[in-house]
Amino acid sequence: MANPTLLILAGDGIGPEVMNEVTRIIDWFGEKRDLKFDVEHDLVGGAAYDAHGTPLHDDTMARALEADAVLLGAVGGPKYDDLDFSLKPERGLLRLRKEMDLFSNLRPAQCFDALADFSSLKPELVAGLDIMIVRELTSGVYFGEPRGIFEEGNERVGVNTQRYTESEIDRVARSAFELARKRNNKVCSMEKANVMESGILWREVVQKVHDEDYPDVELSHMYADNGAMQLVRAPKQFDVIVTDNLFGDILSDCAAMLTGSLGMLPSASLGAPNADGRPKAMYEPVHGSAPDITGQGKANPIACILSFAMALRYSFDHGDEATRLEKAVEKVLADGARTADLMGPEGGTPISTTEMGDVILAALDASL
Ligand code: NAD
Ligand code: IPM
Ligand code: MN
Repeated sequence: MANPTLLILAGDGIGPEVMNEVTRIIDWFGEKRDLKFDVEHDLVGGAAYDAHGTPLHDDTMARALEADAVLLGAVGGPKYDDLDFSLKPERGLLRLRKEMDLFSNLRPAQCFDALADFSSLKPELVAGLDIMIVRELTSGVYFGEPRGIFEEGNERVGVNTQRYTESEIDRVARSAFELARKRNNKVCSMEKANVMESGILWREVVQKVHDEDYPDVELSHMYADNGAMQLVRAPKQFDVIVTDNLFGDILSDCAAMLTGSLGMLPSASLGAPNADGRPKAMYEPVHGSAPDITGQGKANPIACILSFAMALRYSFDHGDEATRLEKAVEKVLADGARTADLMGPEGGTPISTTEMGDVILAALDASL
């Protein structure tokens, strides 16, 4: 049988730096675990704009639709700030999500024991934290029409539209309930049904999906502003959080910091299953291109490495090998390996992006 294909879109800024470590890890699984992938590389974001004048070439879009999974680094950067909106690097990423129909974005926030002291919260609030944010990714205010900047009288108006259909809410709710069943069986749905009609519909549909098909899962509803507060007050009360595109973006950055650093958080963006049962999928760290540290060897590659672990689990049915990789990360952190973003108040000497890759590879070797 042919090897599964992985399309790597490293992107901009620290994207290529962290992806470099991931490719070494992919090679390790090929050599040591006989898990072979056909790896292809292409451009996205500013890198694609520089080469082709567009943040995502149609050929790249076609390759992404063909691939068994896509791994993306990060897009964006100050160099592209003044580009026309339609050409901005972020549009390339949003097109991938939309055209691959990756409606369910899983953003786990797990606090490794060794990092409990690095969280901005007290260690006892985050030690053992393991929550999963399920962010709707292909609709809502990111894509709703009308949108644009229009003339209105003697001034301009900026317009974006929050819009959700019942079926869009239904499918992301199902993915959250399915995940909850494999975890602690608890879902908290977040919206603002107190001020938004889309929030009222969201709450109704989530409740209906629950009552009809997932009555065994514990469901609660929370206004998203309260949700943000609860996430920093007592994050361990949550298991799975399901929420819309914009709230999910904000709440997942917030959850990231609970775990010690934005450089730790992976994500999986999943669509409907193909004929072979494998979902359309893209895996990417939650962080961006980090222009402030680009080119300095300071980027933490763990978010991107853990995104590959999610690919092993969700696209390739190798949960055991995903766990092996996650354990290797846990081990190096327990042994004190720290990139610059993981320096606590007491300081210390950080290791570089590549050195973090080295120690994780050594921990993988030791796991055999
Ligand atoms: P950012 O996530 O790039 O950076 C925020 C802060 O976190 C910075 O101080 C950065 O140095 C730090 N950080 C992020 N990742 C890190 C890592 N792996 N290791 C160590 N430190 C890390 O967010 P931003 O500065 O708001 O955005 C920069 C650019 O990235 C923008 O163009 C934005 O649109 C884009 N962006 C892209 C994605 C993506 O590609 N998925 C996500 C978020 C932001
Ligand atoms: C993320 C990013 C993206 C988003 C941007 C870069 C389009 O912030 O993946 O969290 O807003 O979804
Ligand atoms: Mn974001």
